[in-house]
Amino acid sequence: MTQALVDKYGRERVVATDISDDPGFPCQYEKLDVLDRDAVKRALQKHNVGHFYQLAAILSATGEKNPALAWEVNMKGLLIALELSVELEIDRLFFPSSIAVFGEGVDKNHTLQDSVLIPNSVYGISKAAGENWCKYYHGKYGLDVRSLRYPGVIGHETLPGGGTTDYAVDIFYEAVKNGHYQCFLKADARLPMIYMDDAIRATVELMEADSDKIKVRTSYNLQGISFSPEEIAREIQKHRPDFTVEYAPDYRQDIADSWPGSIDDSAAQKDWGWKREFDLAKLTREMYVSIQNKLNHQ
Ligand code: SER
Repeated sequence: MTQALVDKYGRERVVATDISDDPGFPCQYEKLDVLDRDAVKRALQKHNVGHFYQLAAILSATGEKNPALAWEVNMKGLLIALELSVELEIDRLFFPSSIAVFGEGVDKNHTLQDSVLIPNSVYGISKAAGENWCKYYHGKYGLDVRSLRYPGVIGHETLPGGGTTDYAVDIFYEAVKNGHYQCFLKADARLPMIYMDDAIRATVELMEADSDKIKVRTSYNLQGISFSPEEIAREIQKHRPDFTVEYAPDYRQDIADSWPGSIDDSAAQKDWGWKREFDLAKLTREMYVSIQNKLNHQ
């Protein structure tokens, strides 16, 4: 994401933050805890921030292990961002939501934008509440806050961090290294996914769209490609025919069971022109070849 913003706006106009010492971002950097209101405020003022992407969150699987921490990081982090955006008159704020907002009572295929939200994970509860806070700040204070319901995001630059959809990244590393993967979901657990480049492009396009085009102020459904572990395994076998997978579903299967298999993103298509580029074959090729190159050069 940072690299895409640097490519678009130039390194001197982008500031990245993280809780650790500079992990080597290609732009200005501030070490920052998103729960430290004063520090966030100082950073926003120091850099005269116009577009604020608040991406920090604890994902679904880690959230189930520490619900209180997931709630604290995901909700307090967002509320600080919303309050400061109003106080400092930030032009635009981005909030990442997720397919995890869906749960009981929805059609699992092509789940509609306006479906009921009854999530069953703490992560999903925090994102569903967060979306409503965004809509509230837009209505009450006129804050230009925008949001996407990301499917599982698949990329090769950074390692996955505690999500249910992370198997679809791990599987490539294990395929390249060992030719074998033990999967924590069932073979037919079909979930919506998106290749990182498409997810980043969607985010930038949403943030660049004229304000009057943004009709959804909770969060837009975003669909890339849906697949199951056995489907992606078959695609990987086109690159490594001896690749094998063994299935050992754990608690993350319960989370996956509550999520849609695909979501309807026609509102995003209609309102601000969203269109995905990566299908399963293209995603698999990019992931396999990039990870192979990366591991060969270590
Ligand atoms: N990738 C996320 C997760 O699995 C879903 O938004 O937690």
